Amino acid sequence: QENVPAQPPTGVGLDGLRAAAAGCRACELWEPATQTVFGEGPETARVVFVGEQPGDQEDRKGEPFVGPAGRLLDRALGDAGIERRDAYITNAVKHFRFTPTPKRRIHQTPGPEHLRACRPWLEAEFAVLQPEVVVCLGATAAKALISPSFRITKERGQLLPWTPPGVARAEAGDDSPADDDEDAPHQTWMLATTHPSAILRTPDEARAAAYDALVADLRVVAHALA
Ligand code: URA
Repeated sequence: QENVPAQPPTGVGLDGLRAAAAGCRACELWEPATQTVFGEGPETARVVFVGEQPGDQEDRKGEPFVGPAGRLLDRALGDAGIERRDAYITNAVKHFRFTPTPKRRIHQTPGPEHLRACRPWLEAEFAVLQPEVVVCLGATAAKALISPSFRITKERGQLLPWTPPGVARAEAGDDSPADDDEDAPHQTWMLATTHPSAILRTPDEARAAAYDALVADLRVVAHALA
C-alpha cells in the first residue's frame, strides 16, 4: 500500500502538532478510528516513552496509555521513581488499528506502512522535545526506532547512544545564530523494554517476574535522569 508519509508543520510546538495530527489522513487507519491519539506531556520532558499504538480506551478518550496497559505503566513508573507527569508519552502509530467484531474491537499490530506513514509525527515530537532518554515500550517501537533486527529479549534494559532523527533534521536545517549555545546537541540515550500489554498477557505464574523486570529497566532510566 502506497501511503504518503504525514507532513507535520514546523515551528508550531506540541499543541500545534497535536492540532495538525488530528486531521492526519496519511494512512487509512484514521477512518475507522475515533480520533488521532497524539503524545502527551510537558514540552520540558527529559524522557519520552514510545508505545505501539493506542488501544481501545485510548482511541475513545484521545489520550495515550489510559487503559489497562496504561494503568500498569503508571504503577511501574511509580515503583521506578519516575513521575508520569514529568514524562512525555506517545506512540509509534497514532491511530488505533483494530478488527471489528460484534462484541469488541480486536487490536491488530500496525504494519510497516502505518509506521512509515506516521513516523514524521514522532520525529516532529522529538524535534520539539529534544529528549535526553527515549524509552521504547515493546518490539514495535524498538524495531521502528532502533533497528528492524532489534530483539527486546536480548537487548532490553541497556542504555544505547542514539540520535533522534527529528533532532538530526532540525539541526541540519537550522543554522540560525540564536540557536548556538544553549541548544548545543546533547547525547540522547535509548532504552527498550517490555510493553506493558505483554506483561498483562504473561501467564499468572510468570507475571510478577515480568513486572519486576520492567521496573528494573525503568530504574535504569530513572538513574540516567538523576
Ligand atoms: N498500548 C500502546 O502501545 N499504547 C497505548 O497508548 C496504549 C496501549
